[in-house]
Amino acid sequence: MSVHIKATGKYIPNGVLTNKDFEQIVETSDEWIVTRTGIKKRHKVVEETTVDMAYYAAMDAINKGSIKKEDIDLIIVATITGEQKTPSIANAVQMRLGLETAMSFDINAACTGFIYALEVASALLSTFAYNRALVIGSETLTKIVDYTDRNTCILFGDGAGAAIVERSKDASHFFSQAKPDYNDYLTVKKYIHMDGKRVYIFAVDAMATSIEKVLEKANLTIDDIDAIIPHQANERIVQAVSKNMNIPYERFEMNIAEYGNTSAASIPITLAEYKEKHPDKKRVLLVGFGGGFTYGAAIVNV
Ligand code: COA
Repeated sequence: MSVHIKATGKYIPNGVLTNKDFEQIVETSDEWIVTRTGIKKRHKVVEETTVDMAYYAAMDAINKGSIKKEDIDLIIVATITGEQKTPSIANAVQMRLGLETAMSFDINAACTGFIYALEVASALLSTFAYNRALVIGSETLTKIVDYTDRNTCILFGDGAGAAIVERSKDASHFFSQAKPDYNDYLTVKKYIHMDGKRVYIFAVDAMATSIEKVLEKANLTIDDIDAIIPHQANERIVQAVSKNMNIPYERFEMNIAEYGNTSAASIPITLAEYKEKHPDKKRVLLVGFGGGFTYGAAIVNV
């Protein structure tokens, strides 16, 4: 499968929740949150919906890549926070873009959603039935956070990231998996419920496995990769992966201090920020994990 990411975009809402704000909401401290997670603040929607943010991130990518919207014929949105069951967020984005024809649908693979969506887009593009995909992660997690649970409420934020994906001569590689969460360690029925310690253990292992597997599939080593774009859930998870795999921590792009965990939006937001810093072509490794449990990785040029 050969695709590349032609352009990236993001949308970050203006509302902000700092660690100090959380000191007024639950029994916690800025010091605890920073040392245990690396998070300093997270952004929060003011009036925006998940659809609004998905659309704004899409427009950012479209503008940055000087893409003709009419050329987009596939839209996939990864999210767990759609406002309604149907039409999908992707259908709504299609409407906002004014595209009369396109295939558009959402997928739910929790925080691994963007990687799953990228692999699905890549597979559909490789059939030649579609030519240009818009892949988005958009989340309003602050609406499904239990503000009485200090174990979880401090972790999550809102935002959206988008990528324009095309067939390419550059090789791309994917690894996507899920294994059952028999004990409901990470669920959203009404609010996010999580056994942090169990998820942490799963996450460190799942990230390492995903990095290894995708490199193996690509027949590459980590030295062939320009940057690793990990899901931003906890700085300590990435530090543990870096240590266990003997990969320097500086090779992982991090922005968790600013945004917290934005689930399916975290990887595309981080990717968009990486691309802004490095406009020349780079080979990146995206890696994530989340509820399901889902996990996966992708190697793609951007
Ligand atoms: N402020 C202050 N204290 C807190 C707190 C908070 N916000 N949240 C929990 N604590 C307390 C706990 O109650 C516990 O107190 P106790 O020892 O008296 O019982 C203590 O801090 C230690 O809790 P623990 O769960 O051991 O902390 P931790 O170091 O494992 O960190 C997480 C908790 C949630 C930050 C961490 O487990 C984590 O990041 N897990 C993975 C989460 C994740 O990635 N989720 C997203 C998946 S996509």
